[in-house]
Amino acid sequence: MSNKNVVEIKNLLKQFPVGGDYFTALSDINVELEKAEFMGLVGPSGSGKTTLLNIIGGLDSPTEGNVNVLGIELGSSSHKERAHLRKTKMGFIFQSYNLLPVYTVFENVELPLLLNKVDKDERISMVEQAVKSVGLTDKMDSRPNMLSGGECQRTAIARAIVHQPALVLADEPTANLDAENSHHIMKILVRLNQELSTSFIFATHDEKIMAYLRRIIHLDDGEITEDENISNPKAGD
Ligand SMILES: Nc1ncnc2c1ncn2[C@@H]1O[C@H](COP(=O)(O)OP(=O)(O)OP(=O)(O)O)[C@@H](O)[C@H]1O
Ligand SMILES: [Mg+2]
Repeated sequence: MSNKNVVEIKNLLKQFPVGGDYFTALSDINVELEKAEFMGLVGPSGSGKTTLLNIIGGLDSPTEGNVNVLGIELGSSSHKERAHLRKTKMGFIFQSYNLLPVYTVFENVELPLLLNKVDKDERISMVEQAVKSVGLTDKMDSRPNMLSGGECQRTAIARAIVHQPALVLADEPTANLDAENSHHIMKILVRLNQELSTSFIFATHDEKIMAYLRRIIHLDDGEITEDENISNPKAGD
């Protein structure tokens, strides 16, 4: 695998067993993603976007083919190696925020740092910085039931980026947000991408997200139909 590639996928096939037969969710997928790319997987419902993100995240396994993420060959890695990769180098943003309801914003965002055994002083400063970057400093001690949908999603984003992952996977991250919040969040992510060279892969239908992407891979029926470089995407703040 080339050093500058964050993700390399070769001849990926993904089939799900369905009632004694197989459903082919992805076939003939070949993708190389370089460091600091800002890329989207776009396609109709059922085209395989989430399936592909889950495989890249090591949450689901390929039926055939090779998937290398940040230097780890996922097919021949152990469960423990994949968990370590996710914990140390990856961030996940889901459509449903998956915040812990009894924890405050601070505590939710602190979780990845606790998992990575970061010291307390450093934890506090990293959480404060991540929460500030999503504009929620004044909500630090609020619990999710005291927050709006946009604030919950911004908390989830702070949690996904607090440990400065090399790769962030985001599945429909703006699905529950209004236009203003969607643009606000995309600008935060573009800035992170530019400042820390964090690589991003989005799965999305949302035109508002697409406007910021620098590369769009189109999926249809589990196959790549187009791999497009965008010359003039919207910029961050
Ligand atoms: N565990 C599973 N078992 C059987 N089929 C599955 C499974 N997971 C996904 N599929 C099928 O694979 C196809 C791709 O699903 P996927 O969730 O990746 O689509 P998507 O592009 O993310 O769609 P959406 O835009 O609706 O989120 C769908 O037809 C889905 O029904
Ligand atoms: Mg999906």
